[in-house]
Parts: sequence; C-alpha cells; structure tokens
Amino acid sequence: MQVEAETVMCGIAAIISKNFRNVIPKLVRMLKNLEYRGYDSCGFAFLDGTSLVVAKAKGTIDNFVKKSGILKQTSDIGIAHTRWATHGAVSDTNAHPHLDCSGDIAVVHNGIIDNFMELREELERKGHIFRSETDTEVISHLIEHYYSQGKSFLEAIKMAIRKLRGTYALVILTRHDGDKIFFARNGQPLMIGVGNSEIYVASDIPAFLEWTKKALILRDGDIGFVSRNEIYIENVINPDLGMPEPIEVPWDPDQAQKGEFPFFMLKEIYEQPDAIQRTIMSVLHKAEGIVDDILNADFIYIVGAGSSYYSSLYAQYLYARWGLRTMAVIASEFEDIAGHVVDRNDIVFAVSQSGETFDTIQAVKIAKKRGAKIISLVNNMGSTLRMISDKSIVMGAGPEIGVAATKTFSTQIASFIVILKVILDAQGVDYEEQMKSLSMVPRVLSEKMKHFDEKAMLIAEWMKTKTDAFFLGRGLGYPIALEGSLKLKEIAYIHSESYPAGESKHGPIALIEKGFPVIEIILNDKNYDAMIAGIQEMKSRGAMIISLLPEGDQKASELSDHIVEIPHMHEEVMPILYVVPLQLLAYHVAVKRGYDPDKPRNLAKSVTVK
Ligand code: F6R
Repeated sequence: MQVEAETVMCGIAAIISKNFRNVIPKLVRMLKNLEYRGYDSCGFAFLDGTSLVVAKAKGTIDNFVKKSGILKQTSDIGIAHTRWATHGAVSDTNAHPHLDCSGDIAVVHNGIIDNFMELREELERKGHIFRSETDTEVISHLIEHYYSQGKSFLEAIKMAIRKLRGTYALVILTRHDGDKIFFARNGQPLMIGVGNSEIYVASDIPAFLEWTKKALILRDGDIGFVSRNEIYIENVINPDLGMPEPIEVPWDPDQAQKGEFPFFMLKEIYEQPDAIQRTIMSVLHKAEGIVDDILNADFIYIVGAGSSYYSSLYAQYLYARWGLRTMAVIASEFEDIAGHVVDRNDIVFAVSQSGETFDTIQAVKIAKKRGAKIISLVNNMGSTLRMISDKSIVMGAGPEIGVAATKTFSTQIASFIVILKVILDAQGVDYEEQMKSLSMVPRVLSEKMKHFDEKAMLIAEWMKTKTDAFFLGRGLGYPIALEGSLKLKEIAYIHSESYPAGESKHGPIALIEKGFPVIEIILNDKNYDAMIAGIQEMKSRGAMIISLLPEGDQKASELSDHIVEIPHMHEEVMPILYVVPLQLLAYHVAVKRGYDPDKPRNLAKSVTVK
C-alpha cells in the first residue's frame, strides 16, 4: 500500500446546537460555504444517540448529499470536511473524517503531519489497524492510545498533538465525551462562530457568516472544546494567553452568497465598485499607522503570490515614480532573492487575500528571522498572516468565494494607492489629483460595468475557440496584462502568456501567425507611442489585436480588431478600470467553453502547501 502525507487544503466545519436541535442541514450548508477551499471529497461525523456515525465519499458535496441521504439523518452535534488533494489518491477511504480502531473518535484535519510515517509505524507496532493512506489517521489513533491510558479526552488530545510535527487545524468528535466538539490549531486557520442557539467551528468565517458575525479567531497553540454552555480554550505554547478576544465580523452575510448571479466570480466582479469604495475608507483609516515604518525603512520588499504578486508589482512601478525604494518579489522566490540580504532596517510588505498562502507565510518567516519588520495587506481578518505580522491592514473587499481573485486584486491596487497618498501627505507632497480619480472609480465602474460585460461577451465569442493568447502592456499596464493573462489561463484553460510589450519582440513574436490573439493594454501615458509601434509589429504578422484603450483613441482603434474603451482618469489610477473587462473576458470565455469559473480544475482558493 502506498502511504503518503496528504498535503491537503481543506475546509473544516462543525456545529453543536445549544438547544438539542438538528444541525445536519446547517452542517451541509457550512460545507457548501467552504467548498471553495476544496472539492475532491467530503465527509461527515455526527452522534446519533451515543453512536458515532460517519459518512464520507469522493466527489462533490452536492453529489454526496444526493447519494448518501445525509439530510434524512438528525443530530445536534456534528463535524464535516471538504478536501482538495495535491498528493495522495482521491478516494472514499482517504476522505475525512478518520477514525481510531474502535470507531469512537472521528478527526477532521487541514494541514500536513510531517512525521506521520514514524508515528504510524510506532502505532502499528502497538497493534493499531490503519484503514487509509493519510497522515491524518495517525491523529485519531494517537488520541485513542492516550485515552486508553485513562487520561481525560482533552488531555489525550494534548498528549497526541505533542507528538505531531507539522501543521494542523483539527476538529474532533467522540462518543467518549459526546457533549463537546474538540479542536486544536497550529499553522492552519480555525475559528469559532458564536451564535444564539448554536456554536460553530470552521476554517473560515463565510462558513457560519449567515448565522452569526461574532467570532473567535484561534491562535497557534490553542486547544479546547465547545459544549452547549461553554467555550474552553487554552494555549499550549503560551499558557499565559487568555481566551482570544471575540470580534464582530464587518462582513454582510449576503456577500458570501451568490444571490441572483450564476457564479460567485461574476458577482464578485460586479461587486468591485462597492468593494473599492469600502477599501478606500478602511485603508485610509489604517494607513497612518504604517507611515513612519515605511519612511524609516531602508528598503521595502513587497511579497505575494499569483494575483497578489501582480498587485505588488503594480505597487513597485507606482512607488518607484515617487522615489520609494521597493521591489515586488514572488513569495516562493523570496528566500533566493532576498533571504541573504533582507535585514532589520527593511520592511517586508506581505500581500495576500487569504492571509494563508504557504509561500507568503514562509517568506515572512524568513524575513522575521532576519529582523525585518512585517506589514501585511490582507482581506481575511482571521488569517495567519495577520497574526504573524507586526502591523496589518485589512482591506474592505468582503469575502471572496470564487477561486480566481477578482475584487481583491482591484482592491489591493486601490489600497496601495491610498497608502501612497498617506505616505506622501506625511512628506507634504500633493497627491490629491490621483485620490480624486480613485474616489471616482466606484461610480465610473458602476456606470460602465454593463458595457464592459457586453463587450467582453462579444470578444469571448470569438476567443472561445482559440488555443493561445498574449497579453501585453508597458509600465503600469504590465501588471494588468499579467493579471488578465492569469485569469484567462486559470479559468478558461487557454494557454496565455504576458510580457512587457517591448520584450515581446525579443522572442515571443516568433509565435505570431494569422489570427493569434494579442490583448494590448494601452494607457494614455509616456509609453503610448511605443505601444502603438508594438501593435503595428504584431498586426503586420497577422495577429488579431484586442485593445483596451483610452476612450476616443482613434489611432489605436484603427489598428485593432476589437476594442474596449476605458474612461479617462489619472494615469496612476486608470489601470484599475482596465482589469475589469479582462476579468469579464476570462469569465465569459470560460462559461462559453463549458467550464465552471468558480471551481477551476486543480486549483483551490487558499494554497496552504509548498
Ligand atoms: C489567481 C489567484 C491566485 C492567488 C494566489 C495568492 O486568480 O487567485 O493566483 O492570487 O494563490 O493567494 P492569496 O492572495 O490568498 O495569498
């Protein structure tokens, strides 16, 4: 049998009813709310009287619910799990929960247990029988082992986790102590939602947001339980830490629902005017707290992955114009690029929607070890990144459920513009014109959204049969081109690459032949003439030119096969508007090709693995 550490990214959900009502439908609902964290397999464990019932299978939650008849079951206490595997087979037996030998202890887990092989061998020598190939299963057997020595159940969990090397968010249900849901956290997110008639435990706030906004964010080392009348938490790393302070989640429950939109991605694209408006207000308030750090730093590394790296690159281009010494670094490359040079006079500005991305957290840990100050820009207020940063700014984008980043990319850019304004204010430098443009973005976007959508749909009809595309831009247009290209490739599965437009003639142009789509990000700035020259070169080799250009631009229009006109505003802000038609283009191409844009294959929303 092949036995592997699972390296999974998952969603965990649990509920206990305070007044003995059936929780199964809500447990299913919580899991659906977390489906963006993984959708390879799912499973449930609940107590039926004194029996522990487990139901699990590979496949989607909807299929599982249909086939298993889980909604016919009743229970007032249960746990559940949705899994996305990067290693290890997707199978019914590997789905969580995982049981001990007796079948009395059910464990759901997010994370990786590095030393599970040696623990498993040790437990097998003691006679434990394993059923799955997962690392998680060692946890239920370890707890069983310590519990059988006469410890309390909580003590048995504590002893078990002392043996674990790796990361975990754990939720445990047992018939030995059936009035409680137990939990432990180390390096993976876990939070408690405190409702009037129920208490929830979950990987993320959207899981329970429709029933309560009151949450406790667990910290590394926290271990405890929720019962009908008690929430008990102690911290095994720092026993002096009291209970975490409850927070009031500032998100609206509707934000975590699709409403009348067919997909979360489309809803979140349309939400951008509101999300940007909220972000401007919330970042404006918080940015003052980081100005001195930034002005006193020798160097600022801006670190992120995927779309968060592209917004970081935007910030690098923008901040360089204003004399700030910054460099955007891909999080997974940080160690090699900056690991030997970053020091205590530097700032690492970590950018992450989820605040859980492994690569970004790893970069932060490296920088922290070398004494650098960590400032993070996150969307998820309960995130690990926020907890390990010296200072953190939470954007106001609201929950993003679609796997592809949309509103969090535009709000990251808006955040960087606002932060720059606050820095320049402190230096007595005028940045009012740019801020005036930024404050107009929500209204302009609302007015233009339908138009962008219709245009994108038309272009998508033509693009849907294509196999490749280039996205080109210069200066501030380049990070936007990168983002547009990533969207198309990740949700519409069209091979797409992005280059600084000038670089495209140093090789990529060899691929151009009749009908090859080239998407040009044409800004009204000093790079305009160079962009036009590049378009002519592409066109003369047969490329189909799709131009996003400033409204009324005759010259670029005449060279283009398709155009999307973008309303004028300050050149440092206007690129935010360009990203929206690109998101819509990727969305429509994906839908026209028959794909689900909310669940791109092989991808999960939070990439918490190496
Ligand atoms: C792309 C996308 C990913 C994320 C990346 C970082 O649409 O969503 O590329 O941007 O995985 O995620 P966060 O921002 O959560 O660190």
